[in-house]
Amino acid sequence: MLIRDDFLDDVGSGLGEREFVFGKRGWTLSDVAIVSGGGNGIGRSVCLRYSRGGISVVILDHDGEGAERVKGEVVRAGGSAEVYLADVRNAGEIKRVVAEVFRRYGKIDILANLAGGSIHVKSIEELSWTEWKEVLDVNLKGTFLVCREVAPLMISQGRGRIVNTASNYGLTGCALRTPYSAAKAGVIGFSKSLAQELAPYGVLVNLVAPGPTDTLRIMSRSTPQERERRGQEIPIGRTAKPEEIAEAFYFLVGPESAYMTGQTLHVNGGLVMP
Ligand SMILES: NC(=O)c1ccc[n+]([C@@H]2O[C@H](COP(=O)([O-])OP(=O)(O)OC[C@H]3O[C@@H](n4cnc5c(N)ncnc54)[C@H](O)[C@@H]3O)[C@@H](O)[C@H]2O)c1
Repeated sequence: MLIRDDFLDDVGSGLGEREFVFGKRGWTLSDVAIVSGGGNGIGRSVCLRYSRGGISVVILDHDGEGAERVKGEVVRAGGSAEVYLADVRNAGEIKRVVAEVFRRYGKIDILANLAGGSIHVKSIEELSWTEWKEVLDVNLKGTFLVCREVAPLMISQGRGRIVNTASNYGLTGCALRTPYSAAKAGVIGFSKSLAQELAPYGVLVNLVAPGPTDTLRIMSRSTPQERERRGQEIPIGRTAKPEEIAEAFYFLVGPESAYMTGQTLHVNGGLVMP
């Protein structure tokens, strides 16, 4: 079991080199990251990217099959991954899982919150309260609940990185996606506030705002022609690959971003330039 103080003495408050680091007593340690929504899509790519950087990955997802698949990919590539099943909307489940992860690893260095999505594409008069709440719950409440459990542990460590997921729609809004745009704008406001709250404790909070990204979910819902048309609206001329978004998540947990907090990295091919 890792003794946190020893780790801190050796690594300091920056998140250390991405390779394995050695504690005072010669143990081999690595950073530990919880990735919510790591079982599919962009979250999957974040797990693979973190793992390639020497980070142990905890896949927190409610899709057991997807999460196990990603764990298999990480392990086959020589990395370390564990699956913890939970619904980010459920406060009790999140409390239990975060406590289990902390018991298992003795620390949580990184939290990347990706569980979310737009779910409904509906006009305002068609949207039920239940549907509105469904979207707010997974994107905004889920982000809050996971941060609420992890933040005190990071405060006690005196170090940590949190990366939340916004969307270009959180800035520009989007017709027929009112709850999603509201939720993502909320995630940005929440993360900026949390960044101010946690900075004195050495905990940094930033966001990635992806533009249209070719995850399997998006690709199964659109034709190649539709995606090509979408790509033509983007200055770079195409939609993103999940791996390209994952690079921003990786940058925001590395030593290169140690002086950034409360910031949003817009990875959208130039679609939105705030
Ligand atoms: N794909 C895009 O074009 C795009 C663009 C902008 C922002 N985003 C954001 O990026 C994030 C990831 O999106 P994606 O396209 O990779 O989605 P995805 O559907 O491919 O993956 C989402 C993952 O989150 C998990 N998840 C969903 N609800 C959950 C819950 N209640 N509890 C636990 N796990 C849950 C799913 O099981 C899945 O593994 C989301 O927050 C999304 O809003 C995506």
